[in-house]
Amino acid sequence: MDLNHFLGRFHLVIVHMPIGLLLLAVVMQFLNWKKRFEKLNIAIILSLFMGTGSAIFASVCGWFLGNEGGYDDDLLFSHRWAGIGLAVLGGFCWLLKKKIIKAGKVFITFMMVILGLLVFHTGHLGGNLTHGEDYLLQYAPDKLKAFFGVREESGFHVQQFSNPDSTYVFKDLILPGLKQKCANCHSEKNKKGGLVLTSKEGFLKGGDHDEIFVAGDALESEVFLRVTLPKKNEKYMPPKGEPFSYDQIRILEWWINEGASFEKSVGEYELPKDIEKLLSKIYGLETKASRFVETVDVLPLSDSILQMLEDQKFIVNRLAANNNLLEISPMSQVNKLTGDQIKALIQAKEQITWLNLGNVEILDKQLVAINNFPNLTRLRLEQTSVSDDGINLLDQLTHLESLNLYGTSISDKSVDAIIKMSALKKIFLWQTKVSPGGIEKLKAFRPDLEVITGLELSKRN
Ligand code: HEC
Repeated sequence: MDLNHFLGRFHLVIVHMPIGLLLLAVVMQFLNWKKRFEKLNIAIILSLFMGTGSAIFASVCGWFLGNEGGYDDDLLFSHRWAGIGLAVLGGFCWLLKKKIIKAGKVFITFMMVILGLLVFHTGHLGGNLTHGEDYLLQYAPDKLKAFFGVREESGFHVQQFSNPDSTYVFKDLILPGLKQKCANCHSEKNKKGGLVLTSKEGFLKGGDHDEIFVAGDALESEVFLRVTLPKKNEKYMPPKGEPFSYDQIRILEWWINEGASFEKSVGEYELPKDIEKLLSKIYGLETKASRFVETVDVLPLSDSILQMLEDQKFIVNRLAANNNLLEISPMSQVNKLTGDQIKALIQAKEQITWLNLGNVEILDKQLVAINNFPNLTRLRLEQTSVSDDGINLLDQLTHLESLNLYGTSISDKSVDAIIKMSALKKIFLWQTKVSPGGIEKLKAFRPDLEVITGLELSKRN
């Protein structure tokens, strides 16, 4: 008999008994101070007895459930011992009430208050263990979430990219998914099956049995097979937690079939159509330069302005060797756009065609300057603080083809402004506040526009 599985699963049913019974005992203990409720004493003793008994049973079952594996180690440790502590304290309170251990009423009530608090704490840890840290407040009003420090967009943050030549398939597209969904059991700390999936070296080394991939052949690759088996199969990976999404599986398959290179960037591949689409949809990565960009002729940026941009912590790339247009992104340590940085950008406004301001705090009014960049074709504002007011300022960007607003608080109030962006071909609106009605309107007025919304990938179930 498989005890871990058999007994383990009872935990989830049993746990509700000690919660109810022990809390009831605490409430009755308070009432018991009043003369009217003196008779409750016997009920308190019974509640404590049954509550403690079920807490012991829940702890035993819980111990087996924890052995099934796949939980966050630290959380599991805390929850286990909080649960055992609860059973011990419940038993102690019972002994006090039974007068087997003698103590005053104040002390007994105090111990029972602690017991009540421990019930909440243990239950909360258990909830986090099964549902993730943000579960309880996932649907709470925004203000309440802010108060408790829950990030508004719960879920997985997908990094966005703009240049295919500096986006590495393994490092940037595959490894983050492995780290997110497999690292609980396949890290240096916790090497299930002898396998580490948080680094290139671990991936190359493979597990206890063998290598986990065969370059050029996904169907012969253990790692691909494991994530594509039926979920009921005991070899299916991950056995617990969020499964690999279709997009992640497809990119893994494509990468292995193309030879599983750890060095190649997206720009070095001839991309199949569906991969091209996935890269655009998930990572905001456009793999084809637009026609407009090929026709623009601007002077090269002077060395002094180039230096100024670098001093202001921008990374500057030329679009191509034969083209003076530029792609500009802030260095990773930049988290807030300053006035001096805007001034530096304005110096290069003719040359900037791809501007990446994603993940940087930016004020709506700073977009006024950007609105005057004549050759801007791609603008990334994902995960920034821009609001509808900012988007409504963008009315001069006549060549803007791609706008990434993923993870911002943009709402239906921006829809009209977006409709008016005449060159726009692609807009990223997932994890924004734009309503289904707003999307409908956008599509109705701009059937040519590709609207990217509602990626399953980002949702935690
Ligand atoms: C809940 C824990 C857990 C998670 C999460 C998990 N694994 Fe595993 N994995 C295991 C265990 C346990 C084994 C060893 C038993 C076996 O081979 O099935 C294993 C074995 C493997 C092996 C075989 C290694 C070998 O050579 O024996 C591969 C490949 C693998 N996992 C891939 C993955 C991938 C990819 C993910 C993420 C999508 C993942 N695992 C997530 C627990 C986990």
